[in-house]
Amino acid sequence: MGIVDEDIERVRASTDVVAIIGEHVALRRSGSRWVGLCPFHAEKSGSFSVNAELGLYYCFGCQAKGDVITFVREINHLDFAGALELLAGRAGIQLRYDNEAQSGAHRRRGVLVEAMGKAVAWYHQRLLNAPDAAAARGYLRSRGYDGEIVRRFKLGWAPDDWDQLCRAIEVPADVLRDTGLGFVNRRDRMQDSFRGRIIFPIFDVRGDAVALGGRIMPGAEGPKYKNSPATAIYDKSEVLYGLNWAKTEVVERGEVVVCEGYTDVIGMSQAGVQRAVATCGTALTERHVALLKGFSRRIVLAFDADAAGQNAAERFYEWERRYDVDVFVAAMPPGSDPGELAQRDPVLLEKAVSGAVPFLAFRIERLLAASNLSTPEGRARAAQAAVDLLGEHPSALVRDQYLMQVADRCRVDPAHLRDMLRVTQGGPGIGGPGRVLNRPRPRSDEGDDRSALMTLRLAVQRPEEVADLLDEVLFDDETHLRIYRSLVGATTFHEALTNADPDVVEALGRLAVEDADVEALDVVARLVERAASRVMVQLEMQVRAADDPMVHQPRMAWLALRMERLRTTTPSRELLYELVAFLREWAGEEAS
Ligand code: UTP
Ligand code: MN
Repeated sequence: MGIVDEDIERVRASTDVVAIIGEHVALRRSGSRWVGLCPFHAEKSGSFSVNAELGLYYCFGCQAKGDVITFVREINHLDFAGALELLAGRAGIQLRYDNEAQSGAHRRRGVLVEAMGKAVAWYHQRLLNAPDAAAARGYLRSRGYDGEIVRRFKLGWAPDDWDQLCRAIEVPADVLRDTGLGFVNRRDRMQDSFRGRIIFPIFDVRGDAVALGGRIMPGAEGPKYKNSPATAIYDKSEVLYGLNWAKTEVVERGEVVVCEGYTDVIGMSQAGVQRAVATCGTALTERHVALLKGFSRRIVLAFDADAAGQNAAERFYEWERRYDVDVFVAAMPPGSDPGELAQRDPVLLEKAVSGAVPFLAFRIERLLAASNLSTPEGRARAAQAAVDLLGEHPSALVRDQYLMQVADRCRVDPAHLRDMLRVTQGGPGIGGPGRVLNRPRPRSDEGDDRSALMTLRLAVQRPEEVADLLDEVLFDDETHLRIYRSLVGATTFHEALTNADPDVVEALGRLAVEDADVEALDVVARLVERAASRVMVQLEMQVRAADDPMVHQPRMAWLALRMERLRTTTPSRELLYELVAFLREWAGEEAS
């Protein structure tokens, strides 16, 4: 049942977020924010922040975040409606429900999940008890799966027959069809989809059964795995096998281990790693990352991430930036996967996970290990290849850290490697644009990030002071730009939150509570200065390329003078207006 939107807003508006949260957390004032010890994770420092005006909280330690409704949900373990009822009761508001809107799809979901649950239970019983499952039981035992594993993961056996499941679980034909459990065969009869397979039930994060993975018995004909199709309750690009069991330890340890297969998750569990999940017959997607991000920041890949192809690297770095996660790799012995390693050497498997290294470190290490570093030619080749890998990473600081390690191992002067790196990146003055310049937007460096983020904080928390100064041209980074646009396009902060993409919502939530006790004009001035420097570099290039350099001189002088003022004086609003107008005009010329 849906609660009328207007009532949700009324509850939000008449609730004092600081008072509600203050019942659970000792909050003290710090500038424009309230801070205290996070109630959602154990900590000694106060990482938990509340912005009373915007009604949002955020924890810098565990990334717990949301509005007052989220807070009440989490702290009292309620669903949305329950939390709203509680708050409405305290505010003396009578909630109104509209039944039509939601209930249809909601009810159907319930029906499908219930049917899937019945099937899982039925397959499970078959594996435990049925005579025709003896071979499957034997096979699982031979893989080291005891009764406890079989029960914990609710493994099942789908008999090698036509329609035993369909007849047994007493579910209407349309439900069998819509869950993918059965299908209508050529003789117009309902038939089981899974036959002669070991069943790995797939649950969503709440623990509702939503799909099945079916493994063939060794020696039998057909693909190794057959998986449920996409249905109203299952989309493989947003479900991770095992997250329902793993989530507690994932949150506790601040780390999730991502594998490729069902048996890898089970193997991890056997080796004592209870924080593993698996994609279900698909590559890791952005939506998986967005889902995981809600549980932990550290994502350890326990598969051959390098073999996933060149594109994987760019995607991983992009996700690290967009979702503020760290991607690590657990290096497995070549040719082995966690499922197999758990059998052969569980201690080694556990070590691979605890010794996981950042993705870039893993790639460089693997490259150097495969190179011949005993000859000058070999070291030179390795250095060049390593520079190519370094060039893919968006952060200049990170690149340089690894660059020094490579220089050391390949016995090359770091300065020389930096030059090579600049060539790969198509830096000014050397050759044509490199790979990095072919990307939609050049990556920004840490300083840009800091002034852009600080400006965005101001735009969220003290819009009246900065809104008139800001413009898209100031934001060089795609993510920052999207955040800025979400703010410009909305009349209230809540509207921005409602309309933005999940990663932007995440960022907005954080910006709302981060410390913004700064001189607004100074912050904007830094951002304007950086944007102006970028234009200055381009102007210099134009001067160098021009037949008559004098054509560009006046503009350069004009800009240089104002940049100088920006750096040396307390910036005035007028100066900032003037420069932003210039930048906007420049961007317009560049675009045309
Ligand atoms: P693997 O071939 O690595 O299988 O596929 P596995 O998980 O190690 O299984 P065992 O240990 O050999 O029994 C990894 C994952 O890829 C998907 C499945 O999700 C599987 O768990 N897959 C694989 C399919 O969807 N279809 C296939 O035919 C094979
Ligand atoms: Mn495998």
